[in-house]
Amino acid sequence: MRKGIILAGGDGSRLFPLTFSVTKQLLPIHDKPMIYYPLSTLLELEIKNILIICKEKDKLQLNNLLGDGSNFGITLSYLTQNKPNGIAEGLVIAEDFLSGDDCVFILGDNLFIGQFESKVIKNELYKKNGATIFSYKVNDPERYGVVILDKNDEPKEIFEKPKKFISEYAITGIYFYDQEAVNIAKTLKPSKRKELEITDVNKHYLSKKLLRVVNLDKNITWLDAGTISSFYDASHLVSTIEIRTGRKIACLEEISFSKKFISLDLLKKNRERYGPSNYGKYLEKIINKNF
Ligand code: TTP
Repeated sequence: MRKGIILAGGDGSRLFPLTFSVTKQLLPIHDKPMIYYPLSTLLELEIKNILIICKEKDKLQLNNLLGDGSNFGITLSYLTQNKPNGIAEGLVIAEDFLSGDDCVFILGDNLFIGQFESKVIKNELYKKNGATIFSYKVNDPERYGVVILDKNDEPKEIFEKPKKFISEYAITGIYFYDQEAVNIAKTLKPSKRKELEITDVNKHYLSKKLLRVVNLDKNITWLDAGTISSFYDASHLVSTIEIRTGRKIACLEEISFSKKFISLDLLKKNRERYGPSNYGKYLEKIINKNF
């Protein structure tokens, strides 16, 4: 079974001063901390053994929030990345945790709203060799790694933050890797911006013809919350959808209960923690089967 890794280190410098003392992943997106969203994506994919990589100073707060995962019927552990030496360093840090297993690697500031558990995506989970990345058509590809596909929709080239327009298909912050990813990350040299680049891991798989690209369709909205405008856009979108539909996005207990990771008794116990909040009232509706 694949393990999960959430990357929750980084300086969050584009959000300064919001992130001077609080990690980006603990800032609110509408009514819940940002890390609830990538964690909910892993829960939807039924990944039950998850490592959170963060700065030492944030470990206690993240642990206070999420604990050892038993509230959600999963196992959560924490490891430190003290300097933002790049996203790919997360794979090196996770070596012992993975101990040769495949993984789903997700960025702590990425939100995938919609049906991430679709058949097409789940199929990729069971593929044994290579890596799967997920592309998404955006208006601002220069902010991301982008992928160019050939006429058979196979990946041809990957570029990190291209200055000139070459493709509108951004590479999103979720990656399915086989056990080779750790070894690949270990051989990388820091880039010009002194980071181990996840794009270089993906390029390595591409050079071996072991990279698959799945384009996320209209059923999923992908956002990252790394800039002030995208941070507020994400909050607005979540609140609009939640108010309109009456359903919560990234309600961890709802997902773990629906997947039978936790019992009704544990759901009731979890509900108490949320007090008089709307989140707590929402859990009560689930307990009382009002959906
Ligand atoms: P980025 O948004 O690229 O970096 P950042 O969070 O440090 O923000 P900024 O660029 O504004 O300084 O990171 C994407 C995600 O990856 C984010 O959730 C933090 C995480 N990350 C790490 O955990 N370690 C790292 O070394 C880097 C660069 C990012």
